[in-house]
Parts: sequence; structure tokens; C-alpha cells
Amino acid sequence: MNHDRILILDFGSQVTQLIARRVREAHVYCEVHSCEVTDEFIREFKPTGIILSGSHMSAYEESTDEAPKAVFEMGVPVLGICYGMQTMAMQLGGKVESGAQREFGYAEVREHGHTKLLENLYDFIDDDGHNYLKVWMSHGDKVTQMPEGFKLMCSTPTCPIAGMADEKRGFYAVQFHPEVTHTEKGRQILENFVLRICKANPDWVMGNFAVEAVEKIRAQVGEDEVILGLSGGVDSSVTAALIHKAIGEQLTCVFVDNGLLRLHEREQVAQTFRENMGMKLVVVDASDRFMAALDGVTDPEAKRKIIGRLFVEVFQEEAAKLPRAKWLAQGTIYPDVIESNGAKTKKAQTIKSHHNVGGLPDTLHLKLLEPLRELFKDEVRELGIELGLPAEMVYRHPFPGPGLGVRILGAIKREYADLLREADAIFIEELRAADWYDKVSQAFVVFLPVKSVGVMGDGRTYDWVVSLRAVQTSDFMTAKWAHLPYELLGKVSNRIINEVKGINRVVYDVSGKPPATIEWE
Ligand code: XMP
Repeated sequence: MNHDRILILDFGSQVTQLIARRVREAHVYCEVHSCEVTDEFIREFKPTGIILSGSHMSAYEESTDEAPKAVFEMGVPVLGICYGMQTMAMQLGGKVESGAQREFGYAEVREHGHTKLLENLYDFIDDDGHNYLKVWMSHGDKVTQMPEGFKLMCSTPTCPIAGMADEKRGFYAVQFHPEVTHTEKGRQILENFVLRICKANPDWVMGNFAVEAVEKIRAQVGEDEVILGLSGGVDSSVTAALIHKAIGEQLTCVFVDNGLLRLHEREQVAQTFRENMGMKLVVVDASDRFMAALDGVTDPEAKRKIIGRLFVEVFQEEAAKLPRAKWLAQGTIYPDVIESNGAKTKKAQTIKSHHNVGGLPDTLHLKLLEPLRELFKDEVRELGIELGLPAEMVYRHPFPGPGLGVRILGAIKREYADLLREADAIFIEELRAADWYDKVSQAFVVFLPVKSVGVMGDGRTYDWVVSLRAVQTSDFMTAKWAHLPYELLGKVSNRIINEVKGINRVVYDVSGKPPATIEWE
């Protein structure tokens, strides 16, 4: 693929991924790599421009990482962000000092010098006619002397050099974070950098991607057969659709019903992929096996392990029936790649541990086919639509690998799963009807193994309790509980209690993450 490429060097900031997302939103291809790459790597990468990220946002320890020398010798534009600005200043002969005061959060920076980076971008003009940007800052150290050739680009009262530029060499640096949405003109600043300063061609669009990826898959796979574990989630579904487009009948998808799926999920997957798309799809009903293995198990991590292990076993049995399969397709996406690279170089501090169930073992002796490795989630969704998948599938809330297994607290029983499925379907149906489904990031019902007393008609009931959970989040690492309207909550509660025999009480979870997690187990 012959795209212009922006190289993002990661110094360990939690928000480096956002730089990549903003660049991609400008339709320019980019990759994130550790700041420890070699000069040779950078030369071979042939970047159209380079961005140096910030460092740990919340950590107080000082970084001593430097950008490889090639960054400043390639003759391509460079943008330093936060720590990236400081290292640029140091490496080119300026000075950086520890700030007595940490600046964290909202700031207003005044623009100077009319640089190309900030051209025509401002949030307000003060009485003296100076342009200001509303930005988000997070730093302790700051540049106190610019390297030769640089001019002042912006300032705040506490950070007199909040931005600098050497426009002849195409070097720009800002102390604030243009990649976060709190910096109101951030997206345009990054767009200016990649489109106007680097002059990158904005050719990264999903229509092109699909065409290129299809060719690449055909070339890679040849006449071989491919198998894929389809979960019905966005990533595996889009992977399946893309590979199917490339090699049709050479792809076999395996869908495992573990008895812990949502209402009618198995039928929906079969309908979409087998009936509508004409894919070879093997549906395995392994629910008895899963239920038997989970019998009496109450510990959440133990449940996760059993579900994960059994999935691998069932999948392997199916793979053994397809001896001509040489490839295993997986729905790995770019954040997974960045996260595991980051984990390798230990640059970013780990917040969330990996919860993927589909970690298939090497013993399958299959080569890996991961056609979405370069894509962010939004891009995967766009591609899914491009490939003709239904919007309800592409924009569906995430569903954990262990499924309802972690939404039935304690021991799992088929009877509980059946009740939960029905209650969950009612909640989702009402969210959609009230136009709330797309306003929350994830919503579901949790089965509590608690019985409480109720009254229905003339009779006393002694039945189960469920909790509704709905959260809003951009990254699933932190989340707020959704302020659903009382009328909606009331309607859902009424319907569940009236329609699902065995449930007589519905509660709403009003806990944020942290300190709670999104799932209850
Ligand atoms: P928590 O509960 O950790 O959830 O706040 C964050 C996101 O991860 C999903 N999740 C899982 N996904 N296997 C998965 O594939 C798991 O074991 C698992 N546990 C949590 C959860 O649904 C939410 O989107």
C-alpha cells in the first residue's frame, strides 16, 4: 500500500492513541511506535512527517527518553507535543527546567508569530486583539529557552514558552495536548500539521482500504483455507465479511453457542452470515458442555477461565475437521496492537488488563491472518458498513467474551441464563424505542442470585432480582452511570416484572467506574 505515512513516536503518554486517531480522522495513515526505535527504522519507515508524543500524564517521575537523532535529520516536518516539545527543545540546543508549579487541565494560550500550524485557528480574541486558544495542559517541566532558529508560537502567564516553531525546518512544538477533545481546536491543529505542513495525501478512507485489503488477503492466502472464530461482535464480524469478500468459500467461520449468549443471538448470526452473506458457517451448540463445566463454580475468574478454555477446546475440535485450513483469522485491531507493543516496551502504564477470551493457542499450528490490525474501532465500524453489514450489528454495544457468565453473579444455571436473556432483551428494546441505545456505551441486565418478596395480584411472590446497568464512556477505562429518564426505567421495570416469570424486582446500578467496574464480575 502506497500511502503517505505519519510516524508517531510514543514516549508513554496515556493519550498517544488519540494522536493517531485524530490523524486518521484527517484521512492520513499513521502508525504509533515506541520512542526507542532506531534511526534505521525511521529512515526505512519513510515518514511524511513525525509527531513526538507526551510522556506519562500523571506520573511525577522524570523521563530521560530522547527522540532518535534521525527524527531531526530526515528533512520532514516534526511536531512535538508536551514532553515531545521538551525533548525537541533539549535535543536541538534549548533549555528545559522543572516547573515549580504543575499545570494540569484547562488553560488559555495566547498565540504569537502567525505560524502555519495555528493559522486562522483561535477560540477568542481579547480586548487587545490577541488570539487565544482554549487548551488542555498537563505538565510539570517546561521549556525555558528555545533552540536557535525557533520563534515563539504561544504562551501562558505560567508557561511563557507554550509553543515554538522553526518554520524553515518544519519543526513545531506545543506544550498543550491538541489530541484531546478538551483542546477545542485540537483536531484542526493536527489536521493543519499533517495536511498543510506535511502535505500528506488524505487517501486513508475505508472504501480504499477494503479494496487494498482484499487484494492483500488474496495474495497472502493464495489457495489455502482460513478459519475464523466468529463471536458476533463487531471486530470478528467485520473480519469475516472482509475475508469472505476476498476469498469466499475458502473461509469457514465457527460460531460457538456457549449457552451464555443474548436472546436469539445464534439465530441472528446464522441469518446474517449464512443466509444473507452466503458464508460457510459452522454453528456448534456446546451449551450443555459449558453448563456442565460451570456447574457450581462461583468465582468470577474461575468462570472466565473455564469459559475461555472450553471455547478453545471446541474451536480446536472444529479446526481438526478442516485439515486444509492453514490460516487462523482474528479480529485484532490497532488499539490491541498498540497496547501489546506498549506492554512490551513498558512505556505506557497499564490500567486495564487484557480480557480477551479468544486467545487461541499455538498448538493449532496455523498462520495468523489479522486484516484489521491497522484499524481503530471507528474505522472498523465504517468498514463494516462499507462491506454491507447491518448497522445494528456494527454499532452494537460491546459484549464480553464470557457473555452472560459474568452477568449471572455466582453459580451459573441455565434457568438463570434464560431469565436474564429475556430481561436483557426487554431493556435493550426499550432503550432503542426511547432513542437511548446510541446515547449509552453499554447497557445490560445483571442477574442477582437473591430472592425477595413481592406481591402480584392477590398473591405473594418470592422471586429473583435483576439490576439494570447502563454506562457512558469513551474508552471503557472509566465510565459514568447513565442518567436514564425515570419514565424509561419505570417502563423497563414494569415490563420485566410482568413479562419475565420468576423476576419480581428490578433495581438500577448507579455506580461509576472507578470504583465499580462496568460488569459486576
Ligand atoms: P469492566 O467490567 O472491566 O469492563 O469495567 C470494561 C469492558 O470490558 C468488557 N469486559 C470483558 N470483555 N472478556 C471480554 O471480552 C471479559 O472477560 C471481560 N470483562 C469485562 C466489559 O463488557 C466492558 O465493555
